[in-house]
Amino acid sequence: MTLKLVSGTANPGLALAVADALGIELTAVECEPFPDGELNVRVLETVRGADLYILQPTCPPVADNLLQLLLLADAARRAGASRITAVVPYFGYARQDRRARGRQAVAARLVADLFAVGGIQRLIVVDAHTAAIEGFSPVPVEHLSAVPLLAEALRASLDAEQVVVAPDLGAVRLAERYSDLLGLPAAFISKVRVSGEEVRVRAVTGEVAGRPVVIVDDMITTAGTVDAAARALLKAGCREGVTIAATHGILVGPAAARLRDLQPVGVITTDSAPQQSGLPFPHRVVSIAGLLAQAIDRLHNDRSLSDLISFV
Ligand code: R5P
Repeated sequence: MTLKLVSGTANPGLALAVADALGIELTAVECEPFPDGELNVRVLETVRGADLYILQPTCPPVADNLLQLLLLADAARRAGASRITAVVPYFGYARQDRRARGRQAVAARLVADLFAVGGIQRLIVVDAHTAAIEGFSPVPVEHLSAVPLLAEALRASLDAEQVVVAPDLGAVRLAERYSDLLGLPAAFISKVRVSGEEVRVRAVTGEVAGRPVVIVDDMITTAGTVDAAARALLKAGCREGVTIAATHGILVGPAAARLRDLQPVGVITTDSAPQQSGLPFPHRVVSIAGLLAQAIDRLHNDRSLSDLISFV
């Protein structure tokens, strides 16, 4: 089977970097909406018999990017691709993995079901919000982790006194992974979400007084979580100037202003979704192109991915 890589419009820069790392050209597609707003996609080259990878994070605009991915998979399936793998480095809707309140939808499960219905046979994700995705997805999931890359990027700027902090209980395992990789102690925060943009801290557990902190999370969306965490940590006596690391920098709404006002030493994210330039705070982007290229290359050649996978 020939290896082919297709990109939707969500993160063409990352797709080009992955193609480059694989030493292949992107297979051409057309993604032009119809005048009424319906999405319309077409694969412009033959993919018959191919081992096809479709790179498309479902970052904002979430609904369009998700539907475009499904349409690309459908087009490829109808065009005779032999094997279709969706490379979704940022899996939107992953946070809706349960009913947090009555009468809510479990969107993460529905999205995983849609992938299967759309003809996707395997899914590659990176630091998805929930590890449970593997259990509820009807198609096999390769759950990669960018944590080793981010930890390596953080290493040079960290202090021996540094504490790794999980800004909520959902991030405890993640903080433990950073703490193991960096040989630093960990602390944890208990938070309550008040609304989509606001969170409140209940308690800080761990020794943070007089120490510099690095807050780690899977994603920053409105930055409500890291903002509340940083303020609670400062109140608990941590040193001024927090560092923040998150795999997915989905900075929307008040995120940039909140991060600017925190005056962090640095914010580090990956390019799982397109990253803005000129943000009003020190921002470093670590590319996951090499990680994705390795995963694709190994799947294509039936080789093990276990050292790339996040077993949490
Ligand atoms: C929630 O559990 C996630 O891990 C993140 O902490 C959260 O979704 C980030 O969103 P925001 O930046 O809007 O607080």
